[in-house]
Amino acid sequence: MTDRSIYLDYAASTPVDGRVWERMREVSELTCANPSSTHAAGRLAQEIIATSTGQLAALLNARADRLVMTSGATESDNLAIAGGARYRAHRGRHLVSMRTEHKAVTDVFEILAKEGFDVTWVDPAANGVLDPAVFEAALRDDTQLASIMFVNNETGVVQDIEALGAICRERDILMHVDAAQAVGKVHIDLATLPVDLMSITAHKFYGPKGVGALYIADRPGCHVEPILYGGGQQRRIRPGTMSTEMIAALGTTASIAAERIDDDLAHLRSMRKALWDGIAGIDGLTLNGDPDGFPGILNVSVAGVEGESLLLALEPLLVATGSACNSKTQEPSYVLRALGRSDAEAQSAIRFSFGRATTLDEVEFAAARYRDAVARLRALAPGAAA
Ligand SMILES: Cc1ncc(COP(=O)(O)O)c(C=O)c1O
Repeated sequence: MTDRSIYLDYAASTPVDGRVWERMREVSELTCANPSSTHAAGRLAQEIIATSTGQLAALLNARADRLVMTSGATESDNLAIAGGARYRAHRGRHLVSMRTEHKAVTDVFEILAKEGFDVTWVDPAANGVLDPAVFEAALRDDTQLASIMFVNNETGVVQDIEALGAICRERDILMHVDAAQAVGKVHIDLATLPVDLMSITAHKFYGPKGVGALYIADRPGCHVEPILYGGGQQRRIRPGTMSTEMIAALGTTASIAAERIDDDLAHLRSMRKALWDGIAGIDGLTLNGDPDGFPGILNVSVAGVEGESLLLALEPLLVATGSACNSKTQEPSYVLRALGRSDAEAQSAIRFSFGRATTLDEVEFAAARYRDAVARLRALAPGAAA
């Protein structure tokens, strides 16, 4: 990042909180031992892992022994979906998910379809929200697992996990939720939310990249087959030496988030409102998503302008045309296409995402830059009035 740049890409990743770095350093100085070793240094590492897991559990009001540590949400999604579907395969092979899910979810279903599972994709309404009645209509007697994300990474749309999860519970279907964009940012109470499997990642809420968790509810029939094989760590659900430092980082990240969540949400709301107020008057502007969605993300399309040129014209703003993971494909976002946007509309989309360090000055500058860039590109477009 240069000094001049303005980072508005918090949905792709967030800066690591200084207290998290401090804790990692402290932990690495306290013990280098393998947490599976039975000597004193190994036991200290185990204690640190237990404390840190407890911090994450407290944020989510979950039992610490129901959290499996992973390398992030991609691994957690893979473990939950492939592991859950395979564990329940003897009961049925029908699975349900949504077109607007992250690739870490959709690609797993594609693999499972090749293994002989039958996948039904449900579509959201034009605002990105999935109607529980549409979801329910897709379920069958042999449905074993459904995966619906909490907060959408491109649009910020929030799904009604409580209603969707309740439908699954009634029918004894495993409900997986990719909560990569939600954990630490919106209130989640796993003691009451009817969710069986939930994916978590630290780097979306001010922790480091490369650490996350999968929550697995304590309920009959709720279990996953491992996708990795090796030592006996984490009840063999996720073998591999546990990273004391990274798990400590996730725990500290979670406890900071637990303290800040309401203040963070209020701040994000005011940032999103300021940006929207600054650009809403542009002719041909469309909001992609739901005005009541997660306030950390604002995704807009604009008629007559192409996204990649817009992205360049917006410099020094650091924003996204879609999901960071798919930005190399240059294809119009499949998430926005699922919301009924045309190729041209989807191609012009820009995702602004805000965070703790975003200031009103930055957002006002971003709004002005966006207005100018759209006007400039429209003036250059073939057929524009000279
Ligand atoms: C909704 C969603 N799911 C999964 C992921 C993948 O998470 P990770 O980078 O931790 O593997 C991301 C982030 O890119 C995401 O936004």
